Amino acid sequence: MTAASPVATAIPSPVAPTVPSPLMATYGRQSVAFVRGEGCYLIDSEGKRYFDALAGVAVNALGHSHAGFIAAIREQVGTLVHTSNYFELPLQTALAAELCQRSGMKQAFFCNSGTESIEAAIKLARKWGSQKGITTPVIIVTEGAFHGRTLGALSATYNAAYQAGFGPLLQGFVRVPYDDVAAMEAAIAANAGNVVGVLVEPVQGEGGVHVPAADYLNKLRTLCDVHDVLLMLDEVQTGNGRCGRYFAYQLNGILPDILSTAKGLGNGYPIGAVLAAGKAAGTFQPGHHGSTFGGSPLACRAGLAVYDAISNEDLIGNAERMGNYLLQGFRTALAGSDRVKDIRGRGLMIGIELTASGKHLVARARELGLVLNVTADTVIRLVPPLIINKTEADFLIATVSKIVQE
Ligand SMILES: Cc1ncc(COP(=O)(O)O)c(C=O)c1O
Repeated sequence: MTAASPVATAIPSPVAPTVPSPLMATYGRQSVAFVRGEGCYLIDSEGKRYFDALAGVAVNALGHSHAGFIAAIREQVGTLVHTSNYFELPLQTALAAELCQRSGMKQAFFCNSGTESIEAAIKLARKWGSQKGITTPVIIVTEGAFHGRTLGALSATYNAAYQAGFGPLLQGFVRVPYDDVAAMEAAIAANAGNVVGVLVEPVQGEGGVHVPAADYLNKLRTLCDVHDVLLMLDEVQTGNGRCGRYFAYQLNGILPDILSTAKGLGNGYPIGAVLAAGKAAGTFQPGHHGSTFGGSPLACRAGLAVYDAISNEDLIGNAERMGNYLLQGFRTALAGSDRVKDIRGRGLMIGIELTASGKHLVARARELGLVLNVTADTVIRLVPPLIINKTEADFLIATVSKIVQE
């Protein structure tokens, strides 16, 4: 055999220094490379194990190397990876049906990421508005929101640093404080006749794991009904079991008109979806939107494998139980700490807000074998795989409490 083994050439040394870097400098990367994952653990190039409380930023719902997920996508890779949306795609139809059944929504469109699912949601709301005769559509968004980095999603996002230098941004967004129904109502009134939708995260993730009042979504639903505008929920991070329901709005017993999701849906295989119900269903017609890769057989097989696991392995119940256990555990372990301002969360989306910047804790946690993330400068964000067990939760409580108090 003359050719080198494909495996040997495909996996470079994970820490090979390259100066100057061939990568655009968009990320401040941590100096560790993970080469393998098992359950809730990552293993680095030196063989050290880490508990993964970041889960690829709320993506690896099933953890790493989930047997059923691997078997499904392995088989699909060997059968059919991609054709095109020019043809019938039975796996896409099956995943759409599964998502609609679990969510209560009526129709799905598949894309490849969270930000794309937001772009699709914005287009869907604008198209719905144009059919009502609205020519200068307004979508009301919130302070602290993160919806993605493409120009439409970035315009909806609340972060001056992310937006700086990328103007002119997309017009047609009005911003109000999060969890403020009166401000939302006033904004709808101030833009009367032009508002097509209200876009919020059921729990703000990047913005600092902000959990709104228990009835916030119910009140937004009522407002949207009264004023004939669309309720658009960004469940890119909160969806697919993470908050202890298939989708977080199910805790409120309501249904949105537009639902965006991604992250956990593919367990690491890129897939996103926008779903429509109520007045928004039926809006998109041939030619209105599209994606070359979106909803490929392989992506949808991955999504179906995720839904199979979260439904049949009680991962949603586990997310709710372990989420409550972690919240209680942190509240007990950190009770009275003058470093902690607040501890909050829904299911396996937990934030510990510190009284000062916590960025340095990421490296300290890594030393102790824990991968976590600090968002909005002061909030430790914990979004572990949905398969986390009690022993692992105890490790998480002990280790995070230790580094906070050190
Ligand atoms: C709530 C929310 N919306 C949208 C996005 C963008 O998703 P993606 O990074 O997959 O494009 C994210 C990513 O963190 C998110 O948390």
